[in-house]
Amino acid sequence: MRVAVVGGTGAVGSTILGVMRERGFPADEVVPFASERSAGRRIDWGERTLTVAPLSDELIQGFDLALFSAGGTVSSEWAPKFAEAGAVVVDNSSFWRMHDDVPLVIAEVNPEALDSHNGIVANPNCSTMQAVVALKPILDRAGIERIVFSTYQSVSGTGQRAVEELHDQALAVIEAKEIPDPAIYPHHIAFNVIPQAETFKDADDYTTEERKMMPETRKILGDPDLRISATCVRVPVYTGHSESVNVQTRDDLSPEECRELLAAAPGVQVIDDPANGLYPLAIDGAGQDEVLVGRIRRDPSHERCLNMWVVGDNLRKGAATNAVQVAELLVKRGLVSRRRTPA
Ligand SMILES: NC(=O)c1ccc[n+]([C@@H]2O[C@H](COP(=O)([O-])OP(=O)(O)OC[C@H]3O[C@@H](n4cnc5c(N)ncnc54)[C@H](OP(=O)(O)O)[C@@H]3O)[C@@H](O)[C@H]2O)c1
Repeated sequence: MRVAVVGGTGAVGSTILGVMRERGFPADEVVPFASERSAGRRIDWGERTLTVAPLSDELIQGFDLALFSAGGTVSSEWAPKFAEAGAVVVDNSSFWRMHDDVPLVIAEVNPEALDSHNGIVANPNCSTMQAVVALKPILDRAGIERIVFSTYQSVSGTGQRAVEELHDQALAVIEAKEIPDPAIYPHHIAFNVIPQAETFKDADDYTTEERKMMPETRKILGDPDLRISATCVRVPVYTGHSESVNVQTRDDLSPEECRELLAAAPGVQVIDDPANGLYPLAIDGAGQDEVLVGRIRRDPSHERCLNMWVVGDNLRKGAATNAVQVAELLVKRGLVSRRRTPA
């Protein structure tokens, strides 16, 4: 099996390569693709050394799978080309997620959606991913009427250059030097909290990140009318998104039942002993594939609302691990090598 990792030098792409190796993904050949800037760069991959290739019509031929994390512009152009050339694409960008004929898949939540793929499968946004892993068991048991998300998102969610921006600013503050001007974020991120994840577009008062979280959650959970509100905030954490999730169920669900339900759910680890200081922390979530859930409690303002705190590694389960899990499912279900392209 030949696998392309498009964006293989980036924050998500390098994590995809690491996760493939950890999980022993059955690839005979792996080719990382990136921009012309990185072409020819060598990447150590276990016992193999991979050479970064530039994207070209000639070099993309003959792949079975292509795992994309090179941004929406690259995906819009090159994902259909890879699919046309015979690969099944698993795309981390937002470009294909809401297309009707592109399944939006979380491995533990809606793997059956893969059956209808047309050559491209989309990975949800990282904030959506971790929340929905925790919400699906609640939906199945008690139904969901309404969700309020408040996120505290790490800088690696914006990519490698944002990690460097936080590092450089933090160092300057600590060393009492002049803080470098922000290049990635609209304000200094070091020792700050910015109530803007991504951008405000077309005079919208919600950000593009918030505008992704709401419809993606509806699509994955299969309820186009689900009432959702999201506020997405950037915090000076390297890796690991934290989220306050307020969920209004249709049927009664006590915090105790919810805790039991989630403790038995795939991909979830419950850490919920607040009296002893035990709850999910971003630094504990970083490096893990499971979504951590704690602070499960009744919302005192509504008899069918629960509050919980959900932490996930945005680079792993939020992107790379899910992409690799989806690729594994495609192989297991015999769904690779379909030569159709979405309209
Ligand atoms: N970071 C996260 O937590 C996260 C989570 C979910 C989804 N995503 C999505 O995943 C994608 C990548 O994010 P990231 O955080 O990994 O970004 P990143 O660290 O900036 O990496 C971007 C990658 O894309 C490559 N690239 C850029 N322009 C290219 C071009 N014209 N042709 C080919 N390759 C090109 C880069 O190659 P060079 O090294 O040569 O520049 C690099 O490998 C984005 O769509 C993002 O929204 C990210």
